[in-house]
Amino acid sequence: MDGIDVALVRFGSQLEFVAGHSLPFPLELKKDLLALCTPGENEIDRLGCADVALGRLFAQAVRELLAKVGVSPVLVRAIGSHGQTIRHRPGLQPAFTLQIGDPNVIAAGTGIPVVADFRRKDMALGGQGAPLVPAFQEAIFRTKDKDRVVVNIGGIANLTALPANPAAPVLGFDTGPGNTLLDAWSRRVLNAPMDRDGALAARGHVQAELLQALLAEPYFSQPAPKSTGPELFSAAWLERHLAALAVAPSDADVQATLVALTARSIAEAIRSGTGVSLVGSEHGRDAHATSESDMGGTPMPLETQPDVFVCGGGARNPVLMRALAAQLPGCRVDATDALGVSASWVEALAFAWLARQRVLGLPGNCPQVTGASRATVLGGVFFPE
Ligand SMILES: Nc1ncnc2c1ncn2[C@@H]1O[C@H](COP(=O)(O)OP(=O)(O)OP(=O)(O)O)[C@@H](O)[C@H]1O
Ligand SMILES: [Mg+2]
Repeated sequence: MDGIDVALVRFGSQLEFVAGHSLPFPLELKKDLLALCTPGENEIDRLGCADVALGRLFAQAVRELLAKVGVSPVLVRAIGSHGQTIRHRPGLQPAFTLQIGDPNVIAAGTGIPVVADFRRKDMALGGQGAPLVPAFQEAIFRTKDKDRVVVNIGGIANLTALPANPAAPVLGFDTGPGNTLLDAWSRRVLNAPMDRDGALAARGHVQAELLQALLAEPYFSQPAPKSTGPELFSAAWLERHLAALAVAPSDADVQATLVALTARSIAEAIRSGTGVSLVGSEHGRDAHATSESDMGGTPMPLETQPDVFVCGGGARNPVLMRALAAQLPGCRVDATDALGVSASWVEALAFAWLARQRVLGLPGNCPQVTGASRATVLGGVFFPE
């Protein structure tokens, strides 16, 4: 929820990232979006207005990108728009997910057909509607040479296990919080949208008692398919755990512990069933924290210690990257930039790819990841005429 990322992509024999453009959210809109992420008052008016305002901003971001690189809109076959998730409730009966940013407004504002509403078809088939990036990550990152795990650290973190063995299935799920709690705590104590470069976390020490309490959240030990959102991993969730402590930790200690939470929950998810050495490095693991056997989790289809590649904004947080690497001794841990794909753009590229799948009538989900009853074409098309 830091802003809008737009990528211009050419699909020839290979995917080519032509150019990217980012637009931060205006403060008022961001406030509305954050408010919409937790149940509150007057939601329908707020949602309706934000839906259109976001659509306009998405269209503006596309126009700015095309102007920047001198590409005419008529050359663009389609826009894939994920939209902004304001509620994701795979556990409710009935389950639902809600992304906003009206695709009609984007089509009208750009003259380009828009593919949107990617998640709900998967949910209609009994799936979680998330994560959706694994199919794309399989298409561009899978290799026969080495087991790989790709971790996308956005607001929520999700991972995709890409076995070198072509017969083994791709697996993926949301591991839990990515940056969402780090950002929430930064807003709270720094009055800043993020803890840039992990500066606050770097000044703190991991509080074992707090970390253990946070890791006891049942979501972490649930088997896949599973997905989650900031509805669960919210500021209120953190506050509840803080309130239960006898002594309040310092602001920096809380941030350091939240970094450890993100790193630990990702690493435990990778460790469960991957055969990765359980012996931690010197600073990697602390004696008081929950052991991975308590975490339950999902066995992975990997036979060797995988290379771990990170994308999403979390790859730009050096303190988080170091914490993750320390949790995975013996694994190569790198940003996807090392594979020639900028960590900052993987998600935007994924939704360009998903739009192309829709245009070509090809499936976009991984049913074994989302739990849907079958592979299916995702999204609806909204035309400008
Ligand atoms: N230099 C940095 N230092 C620390 N954190 C960073 C840095 N750059 C990006 N981030 C983190 O990455 C976040 C943005 O990442 P990204 O755009 O992948 O997430 P998002 O838009 O919230 O996620 P989602 O994919 O879940 O919609 C920021 O909110 C911040 O937490
Ligand atoms: Mg973002």
